[in-house]
Amino acid sequence: MKKRLGIIGCGKMASAMLARWLETGALAADDVIACTGSAASAERVAATFGVACGTDVAAVIAGAQTVLLAVKPQLRAGALGDLRPQPNQRWLSVLAGVPTVALEMQLPGARVLRLMPNTPVRLGRGLVALTPGTTATPEDVVETRTLLAPLGTVVDVVESHVDAFTAVAGSGPAYVFLFLEALAEAGMAQGLDPQTSALLAQETLLGAALLAANAGRPPSELRAEVTSKGGMTQAALHVFASRAWPETVTEAVAAAVARAAELARS
Ligand SMILES: NC(=O)c1ccc[n+]([C@@H]2O[C@H](COP(=O)([O-])OP(=O)(O)OC[C@H]3O[C@@H](n4cnc5c(N)ncnc54)[C@H](OP(=O)(O)O)[C@@H]3O)[C@@H](O)[C@H]2O)c1
Repeated sequence: MKKRLGIIGCGKMASAMLARWLETGALAADDVIACTGSAASAERVAATFGVACGTDVAAVIAGAQTVLLAVKPQLRAGALGDLRPQPNQRWLSVLAGVPTVALEMQLPGARVLRLMPNTPVRLGRGLVALTPGTTATPEDVVETRTLLAPLGTVVDVVESHVDAFTAVAGSGPAYVFLFLEALAEAGMAQGLDPQTSALLAQETLLGAALLAANAGRPPSELRAEVTSKGGMTQAALHVFASRAWPETVTEAVAAAVARAAELARS
């Protein structure tokens, strides 16, 4: 009997998704067959999640109803080699910068859906873009939505916007972590001990994000409320403005989109 889900490449992204599926009971360990690029990492995945995991890509393709492709984009050709999907098999790809048309060419006969998750899926607070390929059926979309539901918010994204979605939401947690690190270091530079400073940075970020999500008003208004004329916050925001903070974020997101185009070409 085939497993419900086969995973090709069970690294950071697939592990975050798998952990959440197992934790919520959406999948049982016995529903999953996975593979990685080395025996050592396969053993780690098997020990961590209790799923069948080896290094045999063909065994995953042969043994699963649905296949989740989650290797690095540049490794996909090497990982798949001459292997072909099972006839009419559903394939889900999380590969950044690889459009459905390229996947459909590489996976003849498969029904392909492109996904773009971010790592907060681990806590059920992720975002997942869902972009069906031309071969996917309405039933594929419905069943994939059901599979993704425990991971967070599923957003229908047209193919032309997937790279933008990825640059904001897929890569976005890294930008937020960068700010978190910088804020904690700034506190330490003002004499706070590392533990306290890290706690202040983390809880401030979390509290502000929750406030923004629940206030029903734009963040610019919330920012104005914290910013008294001539006060401390205004002095700090003046420095951000002088270093072109919003433009830096815009440029960073554009760089991520440009890199996606390069990856697609390679
Ligand atoms: N990380 C993110 O936040 C994020 C967000 C959105 C999308 N993605 C996408 O998710 C995909 C994976 O990214 P990641 O960050 O999870 O990378 P990763 O941690 O490096 O995981 C890649 C996985 O692929 C395995 N692998 C490598 N070569 C293989 C082969 N020949 N056959 C089977 N498995 C092989 C690796 O095994 P070894 O460890 O043994 O090499 C590892 O388990 C990428 O396409 C990326 O674009 C990632």
